[in-house]
Amino acid sequence: EKGGYDHFMLKEIHEQPKAYRDTMRGRISEDGRSVQLPELKITPEQLKKINRVHIVACGTALHAGLVGKNVIESLVRVPVETDVASEYRYRSPIITPETLVIVVSQSGETADTLAALREAQRCGARVLAITNVVGSSVAREADDVIITLAGPEIAVASTKAYSSQLIAFFLFGTYWAQTVGSQDEENVAYLLAAMQSLPEQVEHILAQAETIKSVAESISHHSSLFFIGRGIDYAIAMEGSLKLKEISYIHSEAYAAGELKHGTLALIEEGTPVIALLTQEDLYEKMISNIKETKARGANVLGIVNEGNEVEVAKSVDRHFAIPRTLPLLTPALSVIPLQLLSYYASLALRHDVDKPRNLAKSVTVE
Ligand code: M6R
Repeated sequence: EKGGYDHFMLKEIHEQPKAYRDTMRGRISEDGRSVQLPELKITPEQLKKINRVHIVACGTALHAGLVGKNVIESLVRVPVETDVASEYRYRSPIITPETLVIVVSQSGETADTLAALREAQRCGARVLAITNVVGSSVAREADDVIITLAGPEIAVASTKAYSSQLIAFFLFGTYWAQTVGSQDEENVAYLLAAMQSLPEQVEHILAQAETIKSVAESISHHSSLFFIGRGIDYAIAMEGSLKLKEISYIHSEAYAAGELKHGTLALIEEGTPVIALLTQEDLYEKMISNIKETKARGANVLGIVNEGNEVEVAKSVDRHFAIPRTLPLLTPALSVIPLQLLSYYASLALRHDVDKPRNLAKSVTVE
């Protein structure tokens, strides 16, 4: 049942190229120039009227939503807020008939996410669900549904469901942009071509799992570490940190790199591991100066960089891992892979129950 892998989590990490292909299949036109989402009931006219988006979810699904915010805001230029589902309905969110609420849930059964969906509908919003389970409560109650085709996810730590949610956001963001004309045809074709290269690029990263394994073994001796990034890399830092805590029980924090010096830098001492994401080239120089701030206090830094920048980045970090080049907006679908492997191998080195971490359940049906 684990298909030759030691754990479901490792199997599911390796299933990501397939999950990406399955989630894109049939949704990109044969000429590669447009997205088709016939499952959506929202009409182009209704979509054109949407002037505000709330993305609501829990845990890893929320982290996919943070990437979704970047995707929608940059492709469509409509303002997007993301909310923790357990907080959403208690803050009297401003919902109008022109608000689109997007709920994200692998299982489609998370109690807080379902409650947020109901509250949004009660206030008159249209709800789009991104979920992995056909027939789940969220899928049944939402007005529109985009199913991720990651296949069943057994490990408590979400991997392929998360990354397929990213693909769903890329598809939906591009569809919306093409519908309202906020991106020209060439840009859309360019985005879609880059998306279609992602599965192969993930395979390339997975082939280098051993490199990550050795980093994971060295961090497993530490009791605390930091993930830092800027822009969309900050969202990935959060996901990397959650995954590590969840299955290795090592405490970590994700920080917007520029925010470290406003307090948290005090925690960096000789040998503290820092995982720095540097996939956004317009923020590269700023990241390097933030890395230097940590190194001056003794941090041991692993840099996740784009291929081609290795030589340059090697001057400022202790170790680095390169991911294949893609468009800046699509990097999360690649940069998350080494972080998933890092938490998997750290948990393994510490001999924890990788697939069933303590205190946690796969589906959280209490509020
Ligand atoms: O089924 P859902 O996507 O609604 O679950 C939400 C969270 O409980 C879930 O993503 C959780 O954070 C994962 N175990 C993290 O790996």
